[in-house]
Amino acid sequence: MSAVGWGKLILLGEHAVVYGYPALAAALDRGVTIDAVPTTKGGLRLVIPEWNVSVKADDDSSVARCLSAVADALFSGRHSSAIPGGRPQLSLVGDAQIPHGAGLGSSAALAVAIARALLQAANQPADVATLAHAASASETIIHGKPSGVDVALAITGGLGVFRRSTGLIPLKRADGSVPSLRVLVGPSGQPRSTGTMVQKVAEATGERPADKRLSELGGLCDTGTVALLANDLPALGATMNRAHAVLSDLGVSTPVLDGLCAKAIELGAHGAKLTGAGGGGAVIAIAPRDKEQAILAAWKTLAVTGFVAVVGAR
Ligand code: MEV
Repeated sequence: MSAVGWGKLILLGEHAVVYGYPALAAALDRGVTIDAVPTTKGGLRLVIPEWNVSVKADDDSSVARCLSAVADALFSGRHSSAIPGGRPQLSLVGDAQIPHGAGLGSSAALAVAIARALLQAANQPADVATLAHAASASETIIHGKPSGVDVALAITGGLGVFRRSTGLIPLKRADGSVPSLRVLVGPSGQPRSTGTMVQKVAEATGERPADKRLSELGGLCDTGTVALLANDLPALGATMNRAHAVLSDLGVSTPVLDGLCAKAIELGAHGAKLTGAGGGGAVIAIAPRDKEQAILAAWKTLAVTGFVAVVGAR
């Protein structure tokens, strides 16, 4: 069976989550899958045709560093579950169903899929703690200071509220039902670096969790979560619009992301915002069903091929 890491959408709370505030986030129904093929030569390799990736673990590229970080965390790290024997001889063959570097959690999805594939090939249990330890080693290299939200969703999927202090808590109503949400996703095609954006917010806030923009983002996440539980999409949309403005103020939006959000609102969306680190990457919007196609068509004229993701209960 292929090893999977799910992609994700952050509905509310990105950046503030690095400073301990909550993030409302959901896994996509797609991500990265990997099959491990034993090989007698070539060491540990990774091939992902959709991303034009073909690397050896000791190459000098960001994907190769991700591969070696995950493998070393599992096979030569000091973690209690480290498997003795060093890096295995394997060809990892990946299939990516999300774009790379688009704010949809591709690096965490990749790291989790690699970790699962390596554990499967070694006949070891892929428990959440071991997967999180291995994938976080890679995310730390790529992002510097990851909150862990992307890795948590890549491992378990679902919809929930993530805090550094609690991890991911699945979102459920009092009657046990799980909310469901249709989200328009618009990958802008603008490349960006999560690490650079996290650093930008660190400079803008002096890394003070008490910064009022960070605390406002945390409050908006709480308000939006209550609105989602009540299925109050206009109220959820209002929190998204305000979150986008605060994220812009922190310097992580771009004219392209602002334009995509403005177009969605003009065409009747309840709310729209950047998702993930910003600086490029993707926007999300929620809209009445009968407005969705017009928004996707308008994004298309702006050279963005969007899609509808159903998150939560499907
Ligand atoms: C990236 O998907 C989300 C950020 O909040 C960084 C993080 O939480 O690690 C920008």
